[in-house]
Amino acid sequence: MASRGFSHATIERNAFLLIILAILTISIGGLVQIVPLFTIETTVEHVKGVRPYSPLEQAGRDIYVREGCYLCHSQMIRSLRDEVERYGHYSLAAESMYDHPFQWGSKRTGPDLARVGGKYSNDWHYGHLIHPQSLVPESIMPSYRFLAETPLKYDNIAEKLKTLRIVGVPYTDEEVAQAKADLEAQATPGADTDALMKRYPKANLVPGNGHEVTELDALVAYLQVLGTMVDFTDPSAENPQQ
Ligand code: HEC
Repeated sequence: MASRGFSHATIERNAFLLIILAILTISIGGLVQIVPLFTIETTVEHVKGVRPYSPLEQAGRDIYVREGCYLCHSQMIRSLRDEVERYGHYSLAAESMYDHPFQWGSKRTGPDLARVGGKYSNDWHYGHLIHPQSLVPESIMPSYRFLAETPLKYDNIAEKLKTLRIVGVPYTDEEVAQAKADLEAQATPGADTDALMKRYPKANLVPGNGHEVTELDALVAYLQVLGTMVDFTDPSAENPQQ
């Protein structure tokens, strides 16, 4: 028996009341989801080791996005046992705090790449990207040979870092000023890399071909840093630094 008071039946038969109450309910749900995002600065804990990408890594990241690698690869290890056993420590929010846009992805035709850095040698990556089937015969990954033949365009690398600074990546004035030199140092055999390594610890020096930086050099530098910034053998690694 429907009661006479403020019941379900009353609400359902009064379109106006139904609309008002629906809006009210949806607003509460919306607030619960949206308001915490305003405090994102404080909710993402800083983790020791996480640094902005070096100029070459950042340029490689742009190639990764341009080529749509995210259509087949995710970069987010979930905290589930099978994932952690296969890919390593689950991803921390801080590890993608300087990613604009982030590359978590939603499709795994190929494996997750969040911790692929250091898993293979530079040579392996060059060989694999040029001809995946030469290393993994059953692979369905396409060849990216053209990246090895395409010189990297990096005249605007300092501008890129400045733009990232606008959205919160803490590049210093010095890092912006040295962007081009740092980029070249990371991809030139025998270059002086002391300043580069100080600014970007653990940056992976790619062999390069000695006369020009290619898009492939940048991509490999990027792949090799993925997931390597945080030292998970250090017990204090996950504690907030602030
Ligand atoms: C059509 C889907 C597809 C696309 C696009 C693709 N990959 Fe792959 N990738 C795969 C598959 C499948 C594998 C597993 C077999 C292999 O190692 O080749 C793989 C493997 C890899 C691996 C080795 C991972 C590991 O842990 O063994 C790397 C690194 C990689 N891909 C990088 C890239 C990059 C960088 C791009 C973009 C330039 C890219 N892939 C684009 C499908 C793809």
